[in-house]
Amino acid sequence: MTDLIANIIPEKIPQHIAIIMDGNGRWANERGENRLFGHSEGVESVRSSIKTAKELGIKFLTLYAFSTENWSRPQDEIDGLMDLLVASIMKEAPELMENGVRILMIGDIEGLPENCAKSLKNLIIETQDNTSLTLILALNYSAKWELKMAIKSIAHAVNNGTLTTNEITDDLVSKHLSTKGIPDPELLIRTSGERRISNFLLWQIAYAELYFTDTHWPDFRRNDLISAVIEYQNRERRFGKLSIQLEAKK
Ligand code: FPP
Repeated sequence: MTDLIANIIPEKIPQHIAIIMDGNGRWANERGENRLFGHSEGVESVRSSIKTAKELGIKFLTLYAFSTENWSRPQDEIDGLMDLLVASIMKEAPELMENGVRILMIGDIEGLPENCAKSLKNLIIETQDNTSLTLILALNYSAKWELKMAIKSIAHAVNNGTLTTNEITDDLVSKHLSTKGIPDPELLIRTSGERRISNFLLWQIAYAELYFTDTHWPDFRRNDLISAVIEYQNRERRFGKLSIQLEAKK
């Protein structure tokens, strides 16, 4: 297959891409395999996306790996996913270091199994000075959970008099989210044909371009990510303005 990278406009690379990795289970079922096989093949797509994002000069990549709703899946799938996560962290850590990838996590880390939380915390510390790409893993995450935590913390500050309601701006709300300090994603990708946001980054994607593909996550590789970026580059981002106003600014 032809490499699509030549079609990329280097001046219009998004800073931050977020991905809802979906379709591992269906991909496995179609092959007569169990769902965990789909997840473990999905790890290859994670590796490929990190590599491609770095090559394109994308600075932040957020992957929705486990939502707060995913706890309602069968226990053996949850256990398998957590084991896979720990094994992937252990296995990939040296290469992440070599490639200058910094790891961050959004979500409730304390709700994860202890070995998983521990290996994640170690990886976050180990990679904290890396600067080429920041990989943000959304684990035990949901946007409603995050917004609820932010609202509680803002309400607390108002209650104890350290904040007035007039000081509650967009910027202040952003600073109370787990993505504090991370620019909002310009592009949100969801694989596997579903056209939903599923409780992901609701505040942060206010102006993101949404890109849906029928490709299941284990099949999502280099050219798929490049295609999504090309489509993003061909869209007109108006932020509520008219096309004519954007033309006048050029
Ligand atoms: C969605 O497919 C996928 C997940 C909930 C898990 C994603 C996890 C990985 C790719 C592996 C580990 C990740 C890292 C960061 C190393 P699904 O199970 O919802 O598929 P379905 O919709 O077809 O059932």
